[in-house]
Amino acid sequence: MTAEEAVTLIKNNDIISLSGFTATGCPKAVTRALAAKAEEQHSKGFFFKIGLYTGASTGESADGVLSRANSISFRTPYQSNIDSRNALNNYNMHYFDLHLSEFAQYLRYGFLPKPNYAILEVCDITKNGKIILTSAVGVSPTIARLADKVIIELNQYHPKKLIGVHDIYEPFDPPNRKEIPIYSVNDRIGVPYIQIDPEKIIGIIDTNLPNEISPFSLSNNLTKQIGKNVANFLRMEMTIGRIPLSFLPIQSGVGNIANAVLSAIGLNEEIPKFEIYTEVIQDAVIELMEMNRVRFASGCSLSLTTPMLNKVYDEWDFFKDKLLLRPQEISNNPEIVRRLGLISINTALEADIFGNINSTHVGGTKMMNGIGGSGDFCRNAYLSIFTMPSTAKDGRISTIVPMVSHVDHNEHSVKILITEHGVADLRGLSPVQRAKTIINNCVDDQYKDLLFKYLLLGQKGHTPHKISSALSFHDAISNGGDMKNVKL
Ligand code: COA
Repeated sequence: MTAEEAVTLIKNNDIISLSGFTATGCPKAVTRALAAKAEEQHSKGFFFKIGLYTGASTGESADGVLSRANSISFRTPYQSNIDSRNALNNYNMHYFDLHLSEFAQYLRYGFLPKPNYAILEVCDITKNGKIILTSAVGVSPTIARLADKVIIELNQYHPKKLIGVHDIYEPFDPPNRKEIPIYSVNDRIGVPYIQIDPEKIIGIIDTNLPNEISPFSLSNNLTKQIGKNVANFLRMEMTIGRIPLSFLPIQSGVGNIANAVLSAIGLNEEIPKFEIYTEVIQDAVIELMEMNRVRFASGCSLSLTTPMLNKVYDEWDFFKDKLLLRPQEISNNPEIVRRLGLISINTALEADIFGNINSTHVGGTKMMNGIGGSGDFCRNAYLSIFTMPSTAKDGRISTIVPMVSHVDHNEHSVKILITEHGVADLRGLSPVQRAKTIINNCVDDQYKDLLFKYLLLGQKGHTPHKISSALSFHDAISNGGDMKNVKL
C-alpha cells in the first residue's frame, strides 16, 4: 500500500511505535503521511494527536514533521530534534525521559500502554513474516511483538546483505529472568531476524530513502584537547595497573564531543587496539576500524552520516565481521555493562563542584535531549567518565557550578570529570576534596576564584553549600547575563 493509505487506519489517540535509534533505521514515509493527515484534520477543526514511542531520537521525517504538525500528545523515551524540543518545552507535548535500557521492559511490564501500531523500517521480509531490520535495532523486537498491527517500510536504500548484523534477543521477565549470556563484546545470543505474526502486518510500503543523521562538527582545538586528556588519563590508568594491559571495552556517548573524544583515544598509539560496547556507533568508530585501531563494535545503531554509511555498505565484506547491532535493552543493559567492565565516556551539560552531573536541562528548566543511555552506563561502568568544555556561550557560562540546576547522575556514580584543562579523579574523595580537585583541575581560570569563594562561604557540614547562593550562577545568566558577574 502507499503511506497515505496506511495512515487512513491510524486514529486520534492511537499510540504509534517506530523502529530505529537516532535518525537511523527509522520509518520516514508513513510518519510524513501521518503529519500531513494531522494537518488536514486540524485544518478541518478536528483534534488529532498520537502518542509516540521510539528507540531514541529520530530524524526530520518523524520527530521533525510530526512535532511541527502539533500531532504528538505524548512521547518517550528520548528526542533530540529542535521542533520536538520546542514542543515539549512549550507544553505542546508531554515527554517522559527514560533510561533507554528500561523502555522495552516498561512496555512488557505494562508500566506504559502497549502500542496500537509498530511501523518498522526493514531491508527484507519473508512470506512468513520474518523481517530484517536496517541500520538500527532500538526497541523493534518488543514493539513488533506487542503492537496490535504492524506497518512495514521496505526501504531499498539499505541492502539485503545486512542480514546477520542484527542479534535479536528479548529476556524473560521476572521472576523468570535468567542471566543474559554475553561474556565478550562480540557474543551472539539471539537470531538475525524478528519474527512477526503475518496476520498483524497490515501493509508494506516500498521506499528508497537515506537516513537523516546530521554531519558532526569537525574536531577543533578544544575538543581535541579534551580527547587528549581522556586518552592520557586512560594510558596512565594502564601504567598504574588499574586498567588491564589488554584494555577494556569502551562506551562512547552521543554528539560532537563524544565523537571527537573517541577519535583522540583511537589516535593515541599508547592505547592498545580496543573494542566498543556502546549504544550509538558514530563516524569515529568506523574511521578507527579502517585504521585498525578498533577491532569490533557492538551497538544498537549505525548512527553514521550518509557518506559514512554508504562507505560501510560499499565495503561490507570488510565491516560485516566487525559490527553487531543489538536491541537497546541489551546494548545498554546494566548487567552486561558491569560484567564487561566498560569504560563509559559521556558528555555533560554541566557538573557541580561535588561531582553531580546535569546531562539534560539547560539552566535547569529547558530540556535539551534526554538522559538517553548515559545513566545505564554511568551507574554500572568500570570507570564512568564525563567530559565537557569548561565554559559555554563564549565563556559567559561556566559548565562547572556550585550546584547543578538539574541532576541526572549523582556524586555516587560519577568517577572522573574531564575538561580541556584537565582531569578530576573523584574516586575515594570526600565532598570538600572533590570540590578542590574539580576547581583546581577542571574549571576555567576566569571562574576559579568565584568557585573557591563559594566553597568558603558554604555553611559548615559534610557538603558545604551556601543554600541561598547555590543557584546564583544560573541566576546571573538567566537574563542573557554572564556568570562572571554572579553575586554570591
Ligand atoms: N548551559 C547552557 N548551554 C550549554 C551548556 C550549559 N552548561 N553546556 C553546553 N551548552 C550548549 C552548547 O553551547 C551548545 O549550544 P549550541 O548548540 O547553541 O552551540 C549545546 O549546549 C550542545 O553542545 P554541542 O557541542 O552540540 O554538544 P554535543 O553535541 O556534544 O552534545 C549533550 C552534548 C550533553 C547535549 C549530549 O551529549 C546529550 O544529549 N547527552 C545526554 C544523553 C547522553 O549522554 N547519551 C549518551 C548515552 S550512550
